[in-house]
Amino acid sequence: MEIERTFVYIKPDGVKRRLIGEVISRFEKKGLNLIGLKMIRMSRKTAEELYKEHIGKDFYEPLVKFITSGPVVLMVLEGPRAVEAVRQIVGDTDAVKAIPGSIRGDFALSVRENVVHASDSLESAEREMRIFFEDDEIIQN
Ligand code: RTP
Ligand code: MG
Repeated sequence: MEIERTFVYIKPDGVKRRLIGEVISRFEKKGLNLIGLKMIRMSRKTAEELYKEHIGKDFYEPLVKFITSGPVVLMVLEGPRAVEAVRQIVGDTDAVKAIPGSIRGDFALSVRENVVHASDSLESAEREMRIFFEDDEIIQN
């Protein structure tokens, strides 16, 4: 099976609620390898770069405000079909619709404050992880 890398981060609500261990644990138990990890406070400039696909949408400004409101935990995960596997574990954007058993299904009730971000394609994964990680900050197995 195709080994992929994807980019995930725990949003400020997840960090505030002390869900870092819980979230990382779910990815690890699924069998994904954690190959990059750091905690930062995202600047407005970086948030704008990350979310440039959403510029102009009605939720853009509140999204940027939320994402820069507190520390986030960034990670790179690797495994077979990792992009799709991680999106399944994370669940629907609308946490009310996210199925129980998914991270959003178990820990959120909001469309905006939904605990985690996960890249939606290989292309966005590559672009997004490059915003935050240098080559030597990603572990080569
Ligand atoms: P993410 O990028 O965070 O993994 O989430 P996603 O692909 O499931 O959702 P996306 O459409 O990319 O939206 C990015 C984030 O923007 C916030 N959002 N708010 N209607 C709203 O108020 C609304 N829609 C989206 C969420 O934080 C969403 O995760
Ligand atoms: Mg998205």
